[in-house]
Amino acid sequence: MKKSLSMKSNRLSNGFDKAAVTYDCHASVQKMASEHLAFLCAPLLEKPQKILDIGCGTGLTTLAFQKYCSDGVYTLCDLSENMIHVAKNKIPNQNYIVGDGERCAFEENYDLGISNLALQWFEDIESFLAKILLKCKYFAFSIPVEGSFAAYKNLFAAKNIPILTYHHWGIDALFSLGERNGDVVRSDFKRYDLFFENVLGAAKHFKSIGAWRMTTPQRQAQIAARLLRNPIKINLNYDIFFMVLESK
Ligand SMILES: C[S@@+](CC[C@H](N)C(=O)[O-])C[C@H]1O[C@@H](n2cnc3c(N)ncnc32)[C@H](O)[C@@H]1O
Repeated sequence: MKKSLSMKSNRLSNGFDKAAVTYDCHASVQKMASEHLAFLCAPLLEKPQKILDIGCGTGLTTLAFQKYCSDGVYTLCDLSENMIHVAKNKIPNQNYIVGDGERCAFEENYDLGISNLALQWFEDIESFLAKILLKCKYFAFSIPVEGSFAAYKNLFAAKNIPILTYHHWGIDALFSLGERNGDVVRSDFKRYDLFFENVLGAAKHFKSIGAWRMTTPQRQAQIAARLLRNPIKINLNYDIFFMVLESK
């Protein structure tokens, strides 16, 4: 099923469309976080469930949940048609929605909604949580928080290069947001580190997974030239907050 996209969603989906074929080779953190999210939900997965995966990407999160709930009926939703195409090949015979999970009026109800490392791209997480908890009895998500990618951001700042990224929430603010919209069943925090030879390697990592705000090729070349003069090894720390909410 394909839903029409706004201009902003269209721009975002272009980056993820381009990364669909490279994504799995570079998404070790996304895979580990998917597995941890599924582990946190394990007590909810003992019998077959109807599960909605929002921002499913190439399907790593659904695959992690299938280890606990192989008989579940899964609906996979993503902005990017190419991501859904890859997911469909890996996980056939489920339901698929190409569309904006933040704005989509989901027609059905679900036992569990899940979203691994996708909500950071949403414009209004509060409204989204309020809406999704009317459709899902439980909603489990993970999101990078304040402090993530600190060394990377510092290098851009030191070179006076504006970094185009989404807003990182603090854990306390996210916890309050969760409590306002549902009952908190579980929450957790984990840091995953990725090491690169230089900052350009880290930038290429973001591009390979689609987490890249589009700039012109000339601007990209200028940034690359300035960053290449800085051959320092870099640690890309993903600081990830996990939360499982039950609808009130
Ligand atoms: C970092 S990937 C995570 C994919 C997958 N959950 C995983 O853990 O591998 C983020 C995904 O969210 C999708 N996404 C971003 N905003 C979205 C939105 N508003 N609705 C649906 N999908 C969205 C992107 O297209 C991308 O595939």
